[in-house]
Amino acid sequence: MSFDPGMRASMNGRTLRLLQEADIARLQMIDVEAHGQAWSYRVFLDEVEQNDRVHLVAQTDVGVVGHASAWIDASSCRVTNVAVAAQQHGQGHATAMMLRLIDKVLDQPHVANLQLEVRPANRRAQRMYSRFGFVPVGVERNFYDRSDGQGSTDAVVMAIADVSSDTWRERLAELQVAHDHTESDRDTGAAA
Ligand SMILES: CC(C)(COP(=O)(O)OP(=O)(O)OC[C@H]1O[C@@H](n2cnc3c(N)ncnc32)[C@H](O)[C@@H]1OP(=O)(O)O)[C@@H](O)C(=O)NCCC(=O)NCCS
Repeated sequence: MSFDPGMRASMNGRTLRLLQEADIARLQMIDVEAHGQAWSYRVFLDEVEQNDRVHLVAQTDVGVVGHASAWIDASSCRVTNVAVAAQQHGQGHATAMMLRLIDKVLDQPHVANLQLEVRPANRRAQRMYSRFGFVPVGVERNFYDRSDGQGSTDAVVMAIADVSSDTWRERLAELQVAHDHTESDRDTGAAA
C-alpha cells in the first residue's frame, strides 16, 4: 500500500504530512509529555518503513506539534497513537489529524472497521473519539504498562464497527464541515 506523502496546508497554517525519520526525537518528547512514555526509536522507524502504517505529523510555524498513527491489517484498522504538544491543545490539531488519518484509511477498500484503546480516565480523548463515532465496545485488561505510573492499566476499547455505513459516512462529512468552519472562523478572527 502506498500513500501520497504530499503536503497540504490548512487555512490556519497547519501542515499534515507523513512521518519522517527526522521527526522521531520531537515526537518522543511529545509522547513522554502526553503519555508518560514514548515508543523507542526503532518502533518509530518501523512506522516510517512499514507499508501497513499510516502515520501523520502536524506541523505549524512553531514546528512539529503532534502526530496520529494507525496500523492496517486485513479488514481492520487500529488507531495506535494520537498526541498533541500540551501548549498546542484546543486548536483542532488532533481533530484535523484524525480526519486526515481516517480519510487515508478509507482509501483502503478492505478496511471494514476502526478500533482504538484509550484510558478510562481520559475523558477528553474519549469525547473526541465519540465525535468521530467511536463507541465503547469493551475493556482490554492490563493494556497499559504499570510502570508508567498513570493509573489504571486497563483500556477502554472503542470502535467504529462498519465504515461503509451511510450514517457514519454522513457523520464524518458533517464533522469535516464543522471542523473546516471552526478553522475558517479562527482565521478570520470570528472565533473567540
Ligand atoms: C486528546 C488530544 C490528542 C486532543 O488534542 P487537541 O489537538 O487538543 O484536540 P482538538 O483541538 O482537535 O480538540 C480538543 C478541543 O478543542 C476544540 N477545538 C478548538 N479548536 C478547534 C478546531 N479548530 N477544530 C476542532 N476542534 C477545535 C474541540 O472542540 C475540542 O473540544 P473538547 O475538548 O471540549 O471536546 C490531546 O489532549 C492530547 O494529546 N492528550 C494527551 C494524549 C492523549 O490523551 N491521546 C489520546 C489517547 S491515546
